[in-house]
Amino acid sequence: MDKIRIRGGRTLRGEVMIHGAKNAALPLMAASLLTDETLTLGNLPHLADITTLVHLLGQHGVIISMDGGAPNGGHDGRVLGLRAERITRTIAPYEIVRKMRASVLVLGPLLAREGTATVSLPGGCAIGTRPIDLHLAALEQMGARIELKGGYVHALAPTGGLRGAEIRFPTVSVGATENILMAATLAKGTTVLHNAAREPEVTDLAHCLVAMGAAIEGIGTDCLTIEGRDRLHAADYTVLPDRIEAGTYAFAAAITGGEIEVVGGRVDHLDAAIGALQAAGVSVTPSARGLKVKGQGRLKAVDITTQPFPGFPTDLQAQFMALMTLADGASMITETIFENRFMHVPELARMGADITVRGNTALVHGVPALRGAPVMATDLRASVSMVLAALAAEGETIVNRVYHLDRGYERIEERLRACGADIERLPE
Ligand code: EPZ
Repeated sequence: MDKIRIRGGRTLRGEVMIHGAKNAALPLMAASLLTDETLTLGNLPHLADITTLVHLLGQHGVIISMDGGAPNGGHDGRVLGLRAERITRTIAPYEIVRKMRASVLVLGPLLAREGTATVSLPGGCAIGTRPIDLHLAALEQMGARIELKGGYVHALAPTGGLRGAEIRFPTVSVGATENILMAATLAKGTTVLHNAAREPEVTDLAHCLVAMGAAIEGIGTDCLTIEGRDRLHAADYTVLPDRIEAGTYAFAAAITGGEIEVVGGRVDHLDAAIGALQAAGVSVTPSARGLKVKGQGRLKAVDITTQPFPGFPTDLQAQFMALMTLADGASMITETIFENRFMHVPELARMGADITVRGNTALVHGVPALRGAPVMATDLRASVSMVLAALAAEGETIVNRVYHLDRGYERIEERLRACGADIERLPE
């Protein structure tokens, strides 16, 4: 497995172009199952998770064509055409789902279009148990019969297909909102989703579904009303920029006291994170192309609590903690979305950070300096928090198990190096 070596202490300067959002691209690709015509998606990031979903969709019968990315073709980055003219298989096997939980997003579309779906239960993961009970309960409300057998969800729609329903999610779930939103576009009648997730990735999916002919009201709010249609059609859609990638590079500028223009970063998607950076003494200003982020001296300690959008995103919690390890004062970081998302704490501690965890709160006392060390992480955002810490640490850090990073950050070492970081990938 590749490693990344970072020699810390360089001030980063330059610009980073943000790619399409992984967590928007995945549901958008799953939406291709809803129509027999071609869904063309532009600005897809080059990431391992996208490849995993290409494999899964391929074995459902989706024909996928690639144009390799055409800067002048109306899209930036990789463009995929996904055509599910005929769904040949409605089983999502364990071998693929276990690699990537987001595979479960095929459940709603398959069930809505084919009336049946058999999808492996994803199981727990490094950041929490992450059940899919909300997805299943909502599908049952739409008339589906759900059985759990042999580690698989066996779902069957009633005769005549899924029926619209009034669904109230007991907690906000991005994945459940996306799965049910997709299923509802082909259900009979009206579905209302209360307490729906409002993450920009959910909104992006809703806009794409509308482009495919779906009728959805309340986009961007926590109440979505979907009028089912008999069929959806072809569409051409561009994935929104990745707000978590944008936030991560903004934090890289902040932790090294540098200055980075985050090209494609959107203020309206990063309000909470920008607020936290500004409170920490970092200058963040909108620019014509995105955001300009400028670290100025030592950071100040800031408390944050993760919340569903528009609150502070759980997917930036680990990275913010890396910043706070070097802040003046004590910062309280509370994680409310996942029960086990502090896997980065012991690794940051190995670099000299002073962090105490009690329940879902971490108390971070800023230290004068971090020292490089060999580290490793069990999830994507934890891994990148170590990269951030390493950029500011004294000496050399080796980040092991880089495949986690490759699931969410495209060519991170090249892009940080272009801003002046001393970073290289050490192939196995
Ligand atoms: C999405 O995961 C993202 N993944 C995650 O990104 C992100 O951390 C998360 O939303 C929260 O923003 C993708 O979009 C592919 P949830 P998802 O359903 O949909 C509980 C990253 O680093 N829950 O909103 O799986 C669940 O256990 C990642 O890119 C249930 O109890 O998250 C969690 O505690 C990791 N039952 C909370 O809700 C359910 O049926 C929120 O989960 C569903 C969820």
